[in-house]
Amino acid sequence: MSAPPLDPALFHLDPEHLWVMHCSEGPVPRAALDATQAFMRKELRPWEVRWEEDFQGIPAAARAEAAVLLGGRPEDITLTPSASSGLVAVAQGFPWRSGDEVVAPLGEFPANAWPWLALEARGVAFREVPLWEGHLAGAEAWASRPPTAEAGPEARLVEALGPRTRILAVSWVRFQDGLKLDLGRLGAACRERGVHLVVDGIQAAGTVPVDLEGLSAFATSGHKGLLSPQGMGFLWTDEMFRRSLSPSGSWLSVEDATDFSRPSTDLRRAWLTDGRALEPGGPNLLNLSALLESLRLINRAGVPAIAAHGAALQARLLDAIEGSSWAADGARLRGLLEAGRLGSILAFHHGGAGADGLQALLRSGHRQGILASVREGYLRVAFHGFHTEADVDRVGAWLSGTAS
Ligand SMILES: Cc1ncc(COP(=O)(O)O)c(C=O)c1O
Repeated sequence: MSAPPLDPALFHLDPEHLWVMHCSEGPVPRAALDATQAFMRKELRPWEVRWEEDFQGIPAAARAEAAVLLGGRPEDITLTPSASSGLVAVAQGFPWRSGDEVVAPLGEFPANAWPWLALEARGVAFREVPLWEGHLAGAEAWASRPPTAEAGPEARLVEALGPRTRILAVSWVRFQDGLKLDLGRLGAACRERGVHLVVDGIQAAGTVPVDLEGLSAFATSGHKGLLSPQGMGFLWTDEMFRRSLSPSGSWLSVEDATDFSRPSTDLRRAWLTDGRALEPGGPNLLNLSALLESLRLINRAGVPAIAAHGAALQARLLDAIEGSSWAADGARLRGLLEAGRLGSILAFHHGGAGADGLQALLRSGHRQGILASVREGYLRVAFHGFHTEADVDRVGAWLSGTAS
């Protein structure tokens, strides 16, 4: 196999901590630490902070890198503190009529449920759709059957769209079972029906190449596959869709907001029409300095190369567990992988082991220095562009019980 597209030496990786859980929190590259330190050093001497280079330059550069990542335009990017806040900006700004409906897959991460449920008082309903036979969530999540390559999640979602549906809100890659939805198919079906496709892309951004065709909005945060600290992310919106949303109402969401040659108290101004119209206020520049460096690193490596590397590592892990007690679930996951149904999370179904069984397995991994995660009946192992074949072989030995 060729070298990892993200040089592991760019990160603070150590042999005692094999981190296969960027689906919870991504490791930050050293360059991000350097950038935040440099920014804080300037803040010690505020006369060194530059208006154009820092206050305006960092957000502008971050919007530009985010646009490169998504294959979109910088003017369609809104800097947000989280994926949730991007989704909330859409939910709160959308021109709802009482009786409208939002459709979503069953068992979304709550960041893609509460923004829509919060609209109940405005007469907006939220309807969840099971994605495959035996799909359960909520209190019954651990009793759910896992997805297989034969599941037709898009067909079920499209069938569920009704005359009152205004938005279909989906996670591109699901946080618990790792299933990746076909956004192209959903986007085309939504456009035909006049429904907006709104995507929570946090579990795919940085590890799966994006095609924005057919989408109305795409929200993410920096702290998972984008390898940045918690607290900054971005929202992409289609221009026409954005024009239908209410602006955030922050002082920066109007024209000439930072042109101090004009009195700031002059309120006769037009709302901005680009992505800044939805920004909640000045971004966290310290955090954004880190996100900017991580985005640069990922864009230089290229998300397609990261995705191909991750898929090859997943196939290697599935080979390694053949013959172990995970073989049957490995075959299910191989079917999903070969069908192009996975992002960067390999989510092993507990298969009757239950919460205690998976917790015991996690603990045995920790004792071997392998840090994975468990959510709603699945053990999640997530590979990124900096992982190596040796990392995979360690995980394989752990899962098949052959680690020395
Ligand atoms: C699918 C998904 N959406 C959203 C979030 C939360 O993102 P944020 O904290 O940036 O709102 C997570 C975090 O686990 C997630 O997995």
